[in-house]
Amino acid sequence: MKIKPFKLERYFAKYEFNAKYLISSSDCDGYSLEYILFCASKEELNLWNNLKFGYTDSAGSEFLRESISNQHLTINPEDILVMSPGEANYILMNVLLERGDEVVCMAPAYQSLYQVAESIGAKIKFWLPEDTNSTFYYNPDKLNELVSDKTKLIIVNFPHNPTGFIPTMTDLNKIVEIAARKNIILFSDEMYHQIIHEPKDEIPAICDIYENAISLWGMAKSFGLAGMRFGWLATKRTDILNDVLAFKDYLSICNNAAGEVLTCIALNHKDKFIQPNIQKIISNKDIFKSFVAENSELLEFGDTNACSTALVKLKIKESAYTYCEKLVSSCGIMMIPSEMFDYGNSHVRIGFGRENFPEILNVWKSFIMQTR
Ligand SMILES: Cc1ncc(COP(=O)(O)O)c(C=O)c1O
Repeated sequence: MKIKPFKLERYFAKYEFNAKYLISSSDCDGYSLEYILFCASKEELNLWNNLKFGYTDSAGSEFLRESISNQHLTINPEDILVMSPGEANYILMNVLLERGDEVVCMAPAYQSLYQVAESIGAKIKFWLPEDTNSTFYYNPDKLNELVSDKTKLIIVNFPHNPTGFIPTMTDLNKIVEIAARKNIILFSDEMYHQIIHEPKDEIPAICDIYENAISLWGMAKSFGLAGMRFGWLATKRTDILNDVLAFKDYLSICNNAAGEVLTCIALNHKDKFIQPNIQKIISNKDIFKSFVAENSELLEFGDTNACSTALVKLKIKESAYTYCEKLVSSCGIMMIPSEMFDYGNSHVRIGFGRENFPEILNVWKSFIMQTR
């Protein structure tokens, strides 16, 4: 299969490890091994200390799938497959889709969510947000208009990267109803699950409320453990899981043994990982709101209530890409322009999950003053 370059990841490849500051990361600062082991119970430490590096169960070791199923209302260990999120997405598209299939996908989106499907030859229809002064809303009525009798798959991502959108429970139920009415499979990328700025806005994993849904969650975003490279699919569709497992034999086969134990520890002590991340995101977002107010001739930000990212409008004549290239070359701040999401050329993605966010804003402020 030929596949187009992943624009966002290629842009990261260019700057992530040589730019001084990163203001657009979607993950939070990575926790240390020391912190993970500090959180572990005696039994978990025992598991870690006695770890053997043989092959692991292809589906994910039983103890890990047990911990994952504890995060769900209706999902059992046998309803789960563990693998890296990118691999999960790649395999899932391959086992579900054929040339000519119709797929509806949210946009802008993390490119792999629609690019693999497009490369298989699927016809993609994009569900775009309503943008009111840079507050983004995905209207289920618009999704309903896009869905047809031929639609095989709907792809959603809540909380949403990059806009920071999360649907209300009422809208989520409408989305599920739209899929259920035509028996359409729903792939729900939930990599930012539980990054909710106020507890009242939390929504369940879609696989817990729709039997024809597959949910993806993992370590990178909510848990601040991107380097773990762990994720998992959860669904009651055993037939789909069996197909994914058979395909996985041609890729990673099974997961790395150390990562399984560490992932299990993080899941069993979830609050010690997710809650500090949420607090950091909220605090940085508040600081950013003041920054936007001080620089309202340049920036428009409509607020978010979930996720670690936001899509912010640049009120300038030049393209976001040109602005970002100038910013990184003159003061070392790497910022992602909306061109990397194929979403016009006037927005940038801001990431709130890093400790040094206030420091970066000070550097950006000097750049703004110099270029005024
Ligand atoms: C929506 C979404 N899905 C999947 C991924 C991939 O996650 P990972 O980095 O753990 O492979 C990302 C990463 O940015 C993402 O934003």
